[in-house]
Amino acid sequence: MSAPPLSPKPTRQILVCQHRTCRKQGAAKVLAAFQALPVNGVTVSGSRCLGECGNGPMVVVLPEETWYCRVHPDEVPAVVQRHIKDGQPVKAMLYQKYH
Ligand code: FES
Repeated sequence: MSAPPLSPKPTRQILVCQHRTCRKQGAAKVLAAFQALPVNGVTVSGSRCLGECGNGPMVVVLPEETWYCRVHPDEVPAVVQRHIKDGQPVKAMLYQKYH
């Protein structure tokens, strides 16, 4: 019997805050929109408060620590295509405090 194939370690992570303020601003739908567009090697998770309440829904892409603020579910395909797949963060959506 051969060993099961090892799954590749995810190299990137998308965190979508699911804490109180971001939830009120629609973070559950943003998380669902990312989960609906899976990309190989990239994990999508809900996170605890990212410390930027009121600017949400907040999204962080790791390991490069790219922050997006006030993310709307309709904007998620652009982040997935342009940033995650093509490597170009979506400048108009970046959180100015960190970028
Ligand atoms: S509730 Fe989302 S950053 Fe605090």
